[in-house]
Amino acid sequence: MAIDYQDRIPNNVELSSDRRLQRALEHWQPKYLDWWGELGPAGFQAADVYLRTATSVDAKGWATFGHVKMPDYRWGIFLADREEDRRIGFGDEFGKPVWQDVPGEHRAILRNLIVTQGDTEPASVEQQRKLGLICPSLYDLRNLFQVNVEEGRHLWAMVYLLQAHFGRDGREEAEELLHRHSGDPDHPRILGTFNEPIDDWLSFFMFTYFTDRDGKYQLKSLAESSFDPLSRTCRFMLTEEAHHMFVGETGVGRVIKRAVEKMVELKTDDPEALRRAGVIDLPTLQRYINFWFSSSIDLFGADKSSNAATYFATGVKGRPDEERYEDHLCLDSEYDLTIPNDSGGVETIHIPTRNAMNEITRQAYIADAGIGLKRWNRIISKAGFDVELALPSDRFNRTIGSWGGQPAAPDGTRLTAEQWAEKKSLWLPSKEDRAYVKSLMHQVAEPGKMAGWIAPPDRGINNQSVEYEYVVMH
Ligand SMILES: [Fe+2]
Ligand SMILES: [Fe+2]
Repeated sequence: MAIDYQDRIPNNVELSSDRRLQRALEHWQPKYLDWWGELGPAGFQAADVYLRTATSVDAKGWATFGHVKMPDYRWGIFLADREEDRRIGFGDEFGKPVWQDVPGEHRAILRNLIVTQGDTEPASVEQQRKLGLICPSLYDLRNLFQVNVEEGRHLWAMVYLLQAHFGRDGREEAEELLHRHSGDPDHPRILGTFNEPIDDWLSFFMFTYFTDRDGKYQLKSLAESSFDPLSRTCRFMLTEEAHHMFVGETGVGRVIKRAVEKMVELKTDDPEALRRAGVIDLPTLQRYINFWFSSSIDLFGADKSSNAATYFATGVKGRPDEERYEDHLCLDSEYDLTIPNDSGGVETIHIPTRNAMNEITRQAYIADAGIGLKRWNRIISKAGFDVELALPSDRFNRTIGSWGGQPAAPDGTRLTAEQWAEKKSLWLPSKEDRAYVKSLMHQVAEPGKMAGWIAPPDRGINNQSVEYEYVVMH
């Protein structure tokens, strides 16, 4: 479907035929732009950035490229095409037609889910707002801004659902999404992780690899929703999300590549020597992986969850790729969960599958997150080093669920509180690690130039060269 660019708000939802909704969104848009100006990327609002903009949802049209000033980016509302006769794919209402409107009995749950998802989108823009000032290259700067404008568009996507389907409450929630701010002591963002600033690029790459991937799995679960407009919105968001994880995977990969180049050159893997040479040593990278992985898997929630069971039963939120499963009702099946017991060991308990939906989603995420690790390790082994980076156990450094606050080593071995206190700094980024990584962060903004701690990418964006002027400053 083509998009009417005459509209102030580009969309494929026939906004012009719904005056009330159009007015609500036009009322919200200036507030959004104020927010973007105040809490969006610092320092580059007047620069021309080589951005991808969605102009339609089909394979050809959703990605058009050109230089735009970020405040002029065409944030719009795009839903994946409607599937004829789509049926509810799981839960108590299995097989019935999906909902085009919000059923009264599921209204509160759906509103909460949409608000929670919506809150993470602007939160991440706020967390990342100062990164441009210390970018390692124009290529990376452009990628950061692409991620930022798309997170902004994801906020638009959730605000559309709130305003189109939740009446006055929805309009109020849409305002609140601009009033809560990441790290604001009085009005923080809803989820803890989204209140921590991301102030170095290694953390940004880890965030886009691990935390945006949590976003991918949340969107996949919501794409299964019986509430069809939510499903269609999330299906389109997933196409954009893929780029965010690409930025993370290739970003970390390039940091590794630069480190192993120095290891070959200096014939050493001594972290101190590598730090003196201005690159990020592999043990430090492993600690960042440990931190970002463990905090991202917490986002899936408790392993035993009656809320998750309700979401599944009511049909509001499914499992990622629900069609992969045979049993879509999960009424009398059980899931095995290994939890810590009172005597310092572990035991396996059996819980109703419906209560294990968070855990099922988390395990799908973990398998997916492992794929990039294999690629990263190939960079190391190709250079001739016998070192492997690894995901820590899902018991490691958890704050939520059965393993929350139960000390465990990266290999999953349970520890006493004393052992944990003693070893923690070997496994998680220390103050010194963070200070070192930060000390590397200086802006490099000449076309084709790269900071010394990161290798250039294999190729540029949209067939442009790596040397292309991705961001033009004025
Ligand atoms: Fe997003
Ligand atoms: Fe994202």
